[in-house]
Amino acid sequence: SAAEKGGYDHFMLKEIAEQPRAVADTLLGRIGSDGLLTLDEMRLSDQELRDVSKIIVVACGTSYHAGLIAKYAIEHWARVPCEVELASEFRYRDPILNRDTLVIVISQSGETMDTLMAVRHAREQRSRVLAICNVNGSTIPRESDAVLYTHAGPEIAVASTKAFLTQLVACYLVALYIAQVRGVKFGDEITQILDRLAGMPAKVEEVLATMEPVRALARSLADERCVLFLGRHVGFPVALEGALKLKELAYMHAEGFAAGELKHGPIALIDRGLPVVVVVPSPSGQRVIHDKIVSNIQEIRARGARTIVIAEEGDTAVEPYADTLIRVPAVETLLQPLVAAVPLQVFACELATAKGHDVDQPRNLAKSVTVE
Ligand code: G6P
Repeated sequence: SAAEKGGYDHFMLKEIAEQPRAVADTLLGRIGSDGLLTLDEMRLSDQELRDVSKIIVVACGTSYHAGLIAKYAIEHWARVPCEVELASEFRYRDPILNRDTLVIVISQSGETMDTLMAVRHAREQRSRVLAICNVNGSTIPRESDAVLYTHAGPEIAVASTKAFLTQLVACYLVALYIAQVRGVKFGDEITQILDRLAGMPAKVEEVLATMEPVRALARSLADERCVLFLGRHVGFPVALEGALKLKELAYMHAEGFAAGELKHGPIALIDRGLPVVVVVPSPSGQRVIHDKIVSNIQEIRARGARTIVIAEEGDTAVEPYADTLIRVPAVETLLQPLVAAVPLQVFACELATAKGHDVDQPRNLAKSVTVE
């Protein structure tokens, strides 16, 4: 009903709007008065976390994209080798799992069958399993050794939005906690990153306040058949997620690519007028990857692409090559997905609406896939 949707036309719009609150709720009570993390609720002892020699993140769909981003944070902050795998591939390939392997499964619903099977397989091999989950008491956290809940609140729309952002936050917290417990980072470094995380709800709010041009852009592209997404570093999984959202909601052919792979194939797809969304990393992060992606934008534009550029405020280098420029606030490099994913959600939602599709219940899809 309209009341349930809180005045929004669709649950998805409501859930997109709830993201600042959801992100704040995931952080709530997890940062102690000393500015450090307190995640004992997770039920993994410090010793267990110190003994971990490898992490494997396993998930499906949007949750898998959160996992891809988690890898960057886990390896950069906690310095533990990390792999990410689709749950449907994981157990059938006979993965190497030991007592000192930590398997992190990510699932909004906690009921996805492939992910649940991955939990069972990992535990049979005596690995520890940590679930990052949204639905309290669901099957996956019940069968795991440890759990960190995302506290996004109920997500009704089939296409995941606020659950995704909160999964990212939970992954950042786990990465930082491992860094803290293992002494890889000094307390003040952890505190500084946590401060920035605490500032993210306000940044997401800023993004939400500037979405009208993104909606107008989406409406103008309603007759397109195909959209490409490019990204680099954590912007690469964001590109994959942007493409997934467009497939799910607008039933359009959409692909995400690593920008560095452009010359190994995708550039052959560039045709006059083809919309290409590019997620640009912060120029204040690794300058070299920023500059390389700016060259990519130039290359595809020279071949006729219609460039839709998501770049941080103050990044003037992209201006000459962007047909449409979507600004997001400047944030810590690893945290950029929390702001960069939002315009892509709005974009897909508006395109689906323009095409007259059912935004909350896309054809052929289910909120939770409980069969293999
Ligand atoms: C379905 C949903 C997606 C979700 C995926 C994984 O495909 O439509 O939105 O990302 O399942 O679900 P989970 O509940 O395990 O995160």
